[in-house]
Amino acid sequence: MTVTQQLSSDLPAFHQGGAAHWSALPGILAALEQSVGPGVRSIETGCGASTVVFAAGGGEHTVISPDAREHELVRTYCDEQGIDHSRVTFVADSSDRVLPQIATPGSLDLAFIDGAHSFPYAIVDWHYLSLALKVGGRMLVDDVAIPAITPLFHFMKSDAAWRYESLPDNRAALFTKLAEPAAIEDYTKQPYNRRSDFSFAPPLTRARLMGESIATRSRRSVGRRIPALRTAYRRLNEQR
Ligand SMILES: C[S@@+](CC[C@H](N)C(=O)[O-])C[C@H]1O[C@@H](n2cnc3c(N)ncnc32)[C@H](O)[C@@H]1O
Repeated sequence: MTVTQQLSSDLPAFHQGGAAHWSALPGILAALEQSVGPGVRSIETGCGASTVVFAAGGGEHTVISPDAREHELVRTYCDEQGIDHSRVTFVADSSDRVLPQIATPGSLDLAFIDGAHSFPYAIVDWHYLSLALKVGGRMLVDDVAIPAITPLFHFMKSDAAWRYESLPDNRAALFTKLAEPAAIEDYTKQPYNRRSDFSFAPPLTRARLMGESIATRSRRSVGRRIPALRTAYRRLNEQR
């Protein structure tokens, strides 16, 4: 029996002092199980069944969650199952405080984001963990349907620095890091920012802003294809 199968059969309650079962779904645990192994360096935010999978993988793992009771319950379950957790470092704190101190650039093979789900924690976790991942490393982000987390999926899907791999349980997104982030200083170079999002504006203003934006984009596009027109337009504006 694999560790994922064992967890799915036992359904241990690691959360709220043993009163709640918030474990990642079996397909997500299986995706982690396939990515871990001796020598793999990993960090996860949030703790529970996934931590057991990391421990069983035998790599150097760090788990960050503020509730130390979860850590004790995970250690107890591992002991009962004969799973060595000596390579797991348990950090009882909030990820936004811990990650800036420990997420050394290029130090990680695997990151799992499943900590605080309120805005902006997953995005803060992602920022530090994506820098800490080495090129070729993997990032699994759970609960991408939650609005506070969905932008991560769309950004990674659009960006050349990431390759989309799979969507375990239609809930988590697995990506491979292909390159260090580019063009940090110029947001317009990120495909994610290609179109302005006017959803913040009331309907009539939104329609006007969208119309202006489409007109500007069309003018630039024509100008790129017919430079003489761009020059003529510029001269016309200068004469006004
Ligand atoms: C959905 S559960 C994680 C489930 C776990 N991955 C599993 O497979 O059992 C969410 C976790 O986030 C943790 N958490 C809540 N606030 C956090 C924070 N600020 N930083 C890190 N983890 C946090 C909770 O303690 C809990 O362990």
